[in-house]
Formats: sequence, C-alpha cells, structure tokens
Amino acid sequence: MNNNEIKNICCIGAGYVGGPTMAVIADRCPDIQVTVVDLNEARIQAWNEKDLRKLPVYEPGLDQVVKRARGRNLHYSTEVDAAIAAADMVFISVNTPTKNKGIGAGKASDLRWVEACSRQVAKCARGHTIVVEKSTLPVRTAEVIKSILSSAQSEGTNQGPHKSFEVLSNPEFLAEGTAINDLENPDRILIGGESEIAVEALASIYGQWVPSERILRTNLWSSELSKLTANAFLAQRISSINSVAALCEVTGADVREVAKAIGSDSRIGTKFLRSGPGFGGSCFKKDILNLVYLCRHFGLPEVADYWENVVTLNNWQQERIARLVVQTLYGTIAGKKIAILGFAFKANTNDTRESPAISIIYNLLEEGAKLAIFDPKVKKEQIEASLGIMEETQLDPLQSKNINSISFEGKWESKNNIVEALEGADAVLILTEWEEFAEICWEKLAPLMRKPAWVFDARAISNVQAIKDAGLNIWRVGDGAEQ
Ligand code: UDX
Ligand code: ADP
Repeated sequence: MNNNEIKNICCIGAGYVGGPTMAVIADRCPDIQVTVVDLNEARIQAWNEKDLRKLPVYEPGLDQVVKRARGRNLHYSTEVDAAIAAADMVFISVNTPTKNKGIGAGKASDLRWVEACSRQVAKCARGHTIVVEKSTLPVRTAEVIKSILSSAQSEGTNQGPHKSFEVLSNPEFLAEGTAINDLENPDRILIGGESEIAVEALASIYGQWVPSERILRTNLWSSELSKLTANAFLAQRISSINSVAALCEVTGADVREVAKAIGSDSRIGTKFLRSGPGFGGSCFKKDILNLVYLCRHFGLPEVADYWENVVTLNNWQQERIARLVVQTLYGTIAGKKIAILGFAFKANTNDTRESPAISIIYNLLEEGAKLAIFDPKVKKEQIEASLGIMEETQLDPLQSKNINSISFEGKWESKNNIVEALEGADAVLILTEWEEFAEICWEKLAPLMRKPAWVFDARAISNVQAIKDAGLNIWRVGDGAEQ
C-alpha cells in the first residue's frame, strides 16, 4: 500500500488535538479528504464558523490553516457513522480524562469514550480500515481497541461486506499555544504498530512535509509508553525547577539565574526550566497518574512513588503561592480585593484544563477574598465551568482536602480588561504569562489600587523596577532578592 491509497481520513474528536492536527494534515495533503467528526454539535458548528475568530480552539496560526483547507478537503461534521464508513484511516482523538470513580479512580484513564468510538468504528467501517490512536492513552489501550475491532472483522458474508482492521499508535506531541508550528515542524513523529504496511501508509502521509529521519517507527507499546514518559520527563523538570525556586526565595538566589546556569550545560538544556505556578494542561498530570497506576499495577511501587512526587510537588507549589499571598497581605484576605490576571493554563491558548489558576483561586476564595478575574481568551462561562468542575471532583487523590466540603466565603467576578480588574485592588496575582500582562504600564495603573498594594508575579514576566517605581510592592516567584 502507498499513500495514494489513503484517500479518506476520518478523525473522531474535534478538540484541541483532533482539530488542529487534522487541519494541518489537510493543509499539507490536498489529495486526501479529511473529515473531523464530533458528537458535540456546538463544537462542530464553531469549527464551521465563517468568522474564523470564533473557532472553538484558540491557537495562533490555526485560522489561516483552516481557511486554506476548509471546504476543499477539510470538513467538520456530526455525521460520525457516514464519515467512518467512507474512511480508509480513522483517527481516534477523543478525551481520556482521569477516572473519578471505581477501580483506578484518580489515576487510571477513563476509556469509556475510546471504547465507544472503537465500537462505532467496528460497526460502521467498510473494507480495510487503519485505526490510529491519537489521544493520550494508557499503555496497552491499542489492545482494547484491537479486541473490539477483531470481533467485527469478517471475511465478507451475507451478514455484511468484508471488514478488516489494523491498529496504530501515533501519539501527539503538540503543545497548546504553539500547536501549528509543532505540527508543521515536529521534532519527531512516532508511529507504533505491528503491520509494516499500515505503518508505512501513515508514515507516507507525514512524509509529505516531515523529513524522513524524524519519522520514528516502534512497536505499539513503546509508542504508547513514550508519550506518557515524554510528558512525565517534561513535567518533572517543571517540578524540579519549582522546588529550586522555593529554595531561591529563602536563600537570596534568583531561580532564573540558576536556570540559565544549569541550562547552559548541554546535557541539561535550556527548555522547560521556567519556574511558575506549576504545570497545568490536559496531559501532564493525567499522564503521570497513568504512569503511576501502571507501575503499581505491575508491582513497581518505588517507581510509582517516584513519579507521583512530581504531581505532589506541583500541587504544593500552587498551595504555596496561595499561602504566600495570604501571609503577605497581613495574614488575612477576607474581604480584600485581589485581581487575578490569567486563567488559561499557559499563554496563547483558551484551554483551562488543570490550570494552576483553578486551585489557587479556590484557596483564595476559601480565605474569603473578593477576586476580579481577567483572561484575554477565557470567557466568564468557561471560568464558571472550570471552577464548577473542581467542585464536582469527589476527592483529588493528591490533595489532602475534599474540595466538595469547602464552602466559600469569597466571591469572584469576571472582568473585561486589566483596568477593570485592578480597580480598587489590594493585590494583583499574575497567573498566566500573556504578553499584555508583561507590558502593563504600572506607573499608569498603580493609582487604581488601594495602598499598600502588592503585585504577585507567579510567572516572573513583569518589570520589577517599574513596579517598585510605581510605589507597589512586588513578589516574584523564585526571586530571593525581592523578598
Ligand atoms: C504538553 C507537552 O508539551 C506536549 O508535547 C504534549 O503533547 C501535551 O502536553 P501542553 O500541555 O499543551 O503540552 O503545554 P506545555 O507547553 O508542555 O506546558 C504545560 C504546562 O507547563 C503549562 O502549564 C506551562 O505553563 C508549564 N510550564 C512549561 C512551566 O511552568 N515551565 C516551563 O518551563 C514550561
Ligand atoms: P483533546 O485535548 O484530547 O483533543 P477534547 O476534550 O478537547 O480533548 O476533545 C475531545 C472531543 O472528542 C470532544 O469534543 C468530544 O465531544 C469528542 N468525543 C468524545 N467521544 C466521542 C464519540 N464517541 N464520538 C465523537 N466525538 C466524541
């Protein structure tokens, strides 16, 4: 089989992974028809929006890619069955959150959506279909998919036409905020599978724009495990630098100087050494917890504990920042107004999943603060939903308290811009590194605040001197000199 035989791709799941990934494949492979399907009608409608600013995923450069391919060979639809039937290759790109009930709760991934998709593919596919797992999945999920599909495999009887399947693992390494560049210039493409023909069919699609030496072929399980461990290694660096940041703050060192010094060692490298409010996003925590579950399952408790600590440290960093705000504001924030700048888990995305802002905000609300929240890409409803989701969570396994049991004294409001958020505030807490927060003219805005006022910069993006010159106090993560 060569690439010419893949004429029709269906991607199930039009989210942060499926949406941008398929847009780039369609853009780069004009001869392949790509249909992205989702059960969520509103989401599909948003992908079909004429006004490209209303796409459901905010991602720099995505609008231009969608503009080039949509309607030509890129389609967004809710007709899941028809798109599966027409496809030679089906990507499964649905959500796989951590289970919150039952066996493995708090650690294992909830595979119900993957299972539902596999059943649907088994039912609707025609002829030979290559099924590609694209979601972040626990190791050996391909086996689950294969076993569901094999029950539908047939030689072609009067019960229905011939069907056969191959399963590949093709993990996504894009980071939100830089997804288009990551997809167009990936460090590597990983394809795991048993059938060389199927692996090569997928490799030749990526081969349209990715240099061949960057396309790695592995067995299924190596591919699945590589995704989990790549994310675990990245997250581990963040927890490591955040632990060092706390030490810097009490010793007078500056974590940025330390990060630069250690990152200059080519064996360590410069990336993922930015100290901040802890990592968020849909992948890191989930993948590490998956790894922890897997290690415990296979009788490796020490290895499980080792990785679990990366998440524990991350939670601690978020709690530490909330605690520090309270302590600095004379031990009580009840009734005080605090402006929260940033709700997304990082800049250049509207995604708020596992954002450190959520738990920090919870802690501040618990202390009775009045919060004025502003994020340039996150709307009020989404903030509401994210804070609500946290309330629904039964018990965060790595946090000591039951979030359900908290009754808040505090209140929050969503604001439309920085000025509104800062009006009358006793403190500002910067939680996402949006450029407009780095560019705040403190001289102009400081008079809006109630004195003595504080800036807590958990992303270390602001100009310390300008803040001091404006008569404000400053705390910057990992900065001993400023304490
Ligand atoms: C991550 C992986 O990078 C990507 O390969 C995988 O496919 C999905 O998970 P993503 O979660 O989108 O991507 O963003 P990433 O840039 O990795 O950032 C994750 C979190 O770490 C963010 O909250 C970010 O603010 C934080 N971070 C990142 C730091 O605190 N410091 C750093 O130096 C880098
Ligand atoms: P990710 O970040 O992994 O892309 P998202 O939650 O952003 O995760 O997207 C996953 C999408 O998959 C959601 O839009 C959801 O509606 C969709 N989805 C889940 N199950 C199915 C299914 N069985 N059929 C079609 N779409 C599904």
